[in-house]
Amino acid sequence: MTDAAFPDTAGMAGSAAGRQPSLMKRVALIAGATGLAMCLAVATLIVLNARVAIWQETRTALQSAGATLGGGLRIGAPGEETGPLLMRLAAEFDALRHVSAYAVDAGGHALALPAGPAQAEVESDDHPPSWFSALMRHETESVDVPVLNAEGGVIGRLHLTTDPADEIEEVWEDFRVIIPLITLSAAVMVLIAVALCRVFLRRIRVLEAIVSDMRRGNLETRVPPMQAREFSDLGQGINDLAEFLARERADNIVLQQRILTIGEDERARIAFDLHDQMGPRLFALTSALEQIRSLTGRASDGAPLSEALEASLSHARAVQSMARSAINDLRPMVIGHVPLCEALEELVVEFAGLHPAPDIRLETGSGPLPALSEVAELSVYRFVRESVLNALRHGGADRITIRLEDHSGAPKSLLITVSDNGSGPDETPPQPGHGLSGIMDRALALGAVFKAPSRAGGLTVTSLRMPHR
Ligand SMILES: Nc1ncnc2c1ncn2[C@@H]1O[C@H](COP(=O)(O)OP(=O)(O)OP(=O)(O)O)[C@@H](O)[C@H]1O
Ligand SMILES: [Mg+2]
Repeated sequence: MTDAAFPDTAGMAGSAAGRQPSLMKRVALIAGATGLAMCLAVATLIVLNARVAIWQETRTALQSAGATLGGGLRIGAPGEETGPLLMRLAAEFDALRHVSAYAVDAGGHALALPAGPAQAEVESDDHPPSWFSALMRHETESVDVPVLNAEGGVIGRLHLTTDPADEIEEVWEDFRVIIPLITLSAAVMVLIAVALCRVFLRRIRVLEAIVSDMRRGNLETRVPPMQAREFSDLGQGINDLAEFLARERADNIVLQQRILTIGEDERARIAFDLHDQMGPRLFALTSALEQIRSLTGRASDGAPLSEALEASLSHARAVQSMARSAINDLRPMVIGHVPLCEALEELVVEFAGLHPAPDIRLETGSGPLPALSEVAELSVYRFVRESVLNALRHGGADRITIRLEDHSGAPKSLLITVSDNGSGPDETPPQPGHGLSGIMDRALALGAVFKAPSRAGGLTVTSLRMPHR
């Protein structure tokens, strides 16, 4: 496993989500808009209904007042003064609900009504605002009735008109209580919606944290029990998914290990075949050639033959040495025969034979190294060999330190660090070739953590953390 096995896309998701308004804002906006629409609808309904009712009531009142008067009205005794009579009559009709009245004398002059309680009401604080009255009013309807004296002579006229003022006042009384009440309930609705949203978001954040954990490769965390059924089901689904992925990962590791073991076994078989079959023959060939050389060396005319034999011998030795190194590469013979520490010491000695000789140190601490499986030891050996080779080949290093530290934390692991004083990789992380790819595959199969070469404290550091029992 490499440390970048599970790329975390939470940041990407977060930045995309950052451009959109939050759920909380949306809920508050929708609830607020719904409340406002509700207030407007109720206000419109009240105004429309009241308008129709006012129109009907004022019209009916005017019609019944007109019907009372009939074609005309006879009042007063003969010779009685008509002015006060007309004014009293107008005041009586003006006092009726939904109707206002004034009288006109025989000369066509309007007679002023004495100031009464109706006028006082009009000036009170409960008077509806003019915009509300304008909303409620219909076109005024009127009736004009002649007033006659006892002899049947016209002494004036009574003018009646529809007057919705008191009705509008009553509607206004209701309106100014109902609308604030609805506004208040809409505000409470918004608050409840936001509070519920907060609770849901808190739960969603718990789920989000667990999924982020899973994305980073931690399949051990589980969603805690949640109260709401929907969240509980979702949490259970995430837990099931985590368990499924953990099982798949375990199966995958077993499979990878099997492939690795089969691969190593196959390499070992080829190495042993080469060693057992080619080795003796090459040995026999070089021995035979040496023998011929010693025989021909004594012959007086054997110079050309001796040269040819010398060349054949050197070719045979080269093939023998190449076969030995190929066999060792396929399967380092020391692994499984000597402790890992000794195998690595031998490797250091091999590298020290190079020209110019690099300064390679092996630090294993004081205690004994933990026992690893053969395939794990092989992987550690190959990791060290490849890392040292890379340091020499690519970094041009001349001082390399190989450190092995046993860590007792959970899980127990052996940490192998190869640090060199070379120039380091051109890019971080470097583009893997066969060497790094092979190490990564083995690490994945064995549940180990591989860290590709990177610069730290002026050195190039490559590490492998191999778990063990
Ligand atoms: N210690 C190091 N110092 C500098 N560069 C390094 C080091 N280790 C690895 N690299 C870089 O990482 C690259 C990949 O290494 P890797 O071992 O996978 O392939 P390679 O060595 O190029 O070829 P091969 O397949 O033969 O191993 C190298 O080409 C090199 O650029
Ligand atoms: Mg390499």
